[in-house]
Amino acid sequence: MPASRRRARPRIEPIRWIGGPDGYLRILDQTLLPHRVRRLALRRVDQVVEAIRALRVRGAPLIGIAAAYGMVLAARRPASLEASARRLARARPTAVNLAAAVRRVRRVLGRRPTPARALAEARAIHREDAEACRRIGRAGAPLVRGNVLTICNTGHLATGGTGTAFAVLLRARPRRIFVCETRPLNQGARLTLWEARRCGLRATLVCDSAAGALMQRGLVGCVVTGADRIAANGDTANKIGTYALAVLARAHGIPFYVAAPSSTIDRRLRSGRRIPIEVRSPREIAPWTDRALNPAFDVTPARLIDGWITEAGTVRPPFR
Ligand code: MRU
Repeated sequence: MPASRRRARPRIEPIRWIGGPDGYLRILDQTLLPHRVRRLALRRVDQVVEAIRALRVRGAPLIGIAAAYGMVLAARRPASLEASARRLARARPTAVNLAAAVRRVRRVLGRRPTPARALAEARAIHREDAEACRRIGRAGAPLVRGNVLTICNTGHLATGGTGTAFAVLLRARPRRIFVCETRPLNQGARLTLWEARRCGLRATLVCDSAAGALMQRGLVGCVVTGADRIAANGDTANKIGTYALAVLARAHGIPFYVAAPSSTIDRRLRSGRRIPIEVRSPREIAPWTDRALNPAFDVTPARLIDGWITEAGTVRPPFR
């Protein structure tokens, strides 16, 4: 491996369970990045729910992991376990990883819930996601051609490992990565740029609305994005703006790939039409008005996607 590829990986740790079953959840507050690096200690279920809703922890796999650790806190009070599990699972609606992780820990707890059993399962979910990221990076890197355009944040800050789309970029090390700012909460501008710099990747920030012009000028070789929920037919929900990128990529003959662990696939939904789309406060777009519509995600139809990169390899259309 050439020396340029053997760069030391920076330690970016968005989440960690501290101590044993009576410990607590420590998260990096992502709402403050890139200006401040502040960690928060979460000791109650309602604090975990608030952190997920406010996007202090975010990204489909990471909110699943956070909720799984939240179940350790929930298991300390068996009388309110069901209610806590429901609140965690419903903290955000679009990413399927969240409810799936809560269900998985709940199933393991059975009739005699203990924090120790919840913690063992949450740690397993965390470990599995880190491994999935590694494999996604390996599977996706050979697909990368030329400069890559991406949206939102799909790296260490969004997963239990090195990321989904970001893991592909880390492995492929393209000459240049164009990062869409990702209005309104600027996950691309605030988080991906910060993370890319720390990982030694050449990233350039662009306005969301610049994507078409870059493609028209031949500056984009492929598009790689993450996913929050993939329906059984391959329709894919991801950050708002992703659908527009897929339409533009198809119009310019540029390959469009989605990178996600299989935990993001929702086999129960036949198509993307039933994927619940989170609508957030209009104030996130413009604090001075409530006359704005703020859907946080959109659905890209499978026919616009050239490949789904998963830990088990790349699925080409038709999605099975
Ligand atoms: O609202 P966010 O920041 O949680 O949205 C995150 C995304 O849309 C990511 O692209 C997606 O979760 C995949 S990240 C591995």
